[in-house]
Amino acid sequence: MKNYANKNIQAMQPYQPPIEGRRSFDGLLLDFNERTTPFGNVIVEAIKKFANNNKFQIYPEYGDITKDIAEYVNIKPENIMITNGSDQGIDLIFRTFTKKDEEVIIPSPSFAMFYQCSRVIDNKIIMPKYGSNDMSFPLDDVLNSITEKTKLVVICNPNNPTGTLISVADIEKICKKAKDAIVYVDEAYAEFSGVTAVPLLDKYPNLIITRTFSKAFGLVALRIGYVIARPELIKEMLKVRGPYDINMVSLCAAKTALQNLDNLDNYVDEVMEKSKPMLEKFLDDVDIRYYESGSNFILIKPKDSKKIYEKLIQNGIQTRLRKDESINGAVRITIGTIKQTKQLINTLKTLL
Ligand SMILES: Cc1ncc(COP(=O)(O)O)c(C=O)c1O
Repeated sequence: MKNYANKNIQAMQPYQPPIEGRRSFDGLLLDFNERTTPFGNVIVEAIKKFANNNKFQIYPEYGDITKDIAEYVNIKPENIMITNGSDQGIDLIFRTFTKKDEEVIIPSPSFAMFYQCSRVIDNKIIMPKYGSNDMSFPLDDVLNSITEKTKLVVICNPNNPTGTLISVADIEKICKKAKDAIVYVDEAYAEFSGVTAVPLLDKYPNLIITRTFSKAFGLVALRIGYVIARPELIKEMLKVRGPYDINMVSLCAAKTALQNLDNLDNYVDEVMEKSKPMLEKFLDDVDIRYYESGSNFILIKPKDSKKIYEKLIQNGIQTRLRKDESINGAVRITIGTIKQTKQLINTLKTLL
């Protein structure tokens, strides 16, 4: 049959993360940087109440959700646009602000959806490499790559899969140099890192940030995220987003989560202040190399990584073996609760 797809789409592969079978996996899922425990029963109760209202036949209304999110982010409601997961935010940014053959800068390795969305548009992608020793953000290379042709610079902070952070001061340098382009900061893991470019929005009209309820809030199956930007940019992106792209069940869950921020804080505190240092100490003790992470996941480079990855699965623990060029053979591990981290450490001990 004739292939009717655009040439650039024909040349692409679908982004197919190894997702099948995870929901029925009877072990520890440390492979997708998710929250490893449910947010709690408040979400279930709120969804039940919403469902009992039984008005699924009426189109969604979003009410004052942007106000709730704005309060949480400490910004104005006109700076917020909700999206169907932050994946949709990424897609909207590429579709609204870039065209075929235009230059975009996406440091590598980074989150697959950046490259995917960019290839759909058929941009010219420039990929400065994260530092080979410490996986630090390639600031000089990014700054040197910015020219009058640059339309978009992507900064994943903290970066998936490396976990490494770039400082807000360095993001500001990029905003200044790329003043005629969009500077896009992905903050999917901001709750864990505590680092945010939001204060730069006052000074830089070219800055866009995406966030999500998928990670620290643990609502990934419901698909809700949001964009933070100047209202002028949101106005343009709203022309591209559909009017009903976010469903009301997700909205109800997100609203409820925002009313229960203690739950979020407790989880983030457990992961970042207790589990993460415990795991890092263990890795130091057994001399397994890892990269400095600002998030709820860590990239480790054991000598026989494939074997360790496979043995972990046999022992009921899923992690993610990375094949990206510069980190080939590294294993990315989600950091969960103290109990789960102890289980991981005990299992690793028996394997080493
Ligand atoms: C850096 C980064 N951005 C965005 C996403 C997408 O998240 P969402 O579930 O909000 O679409 C992910 C998911 O893994 C991610 O790692």
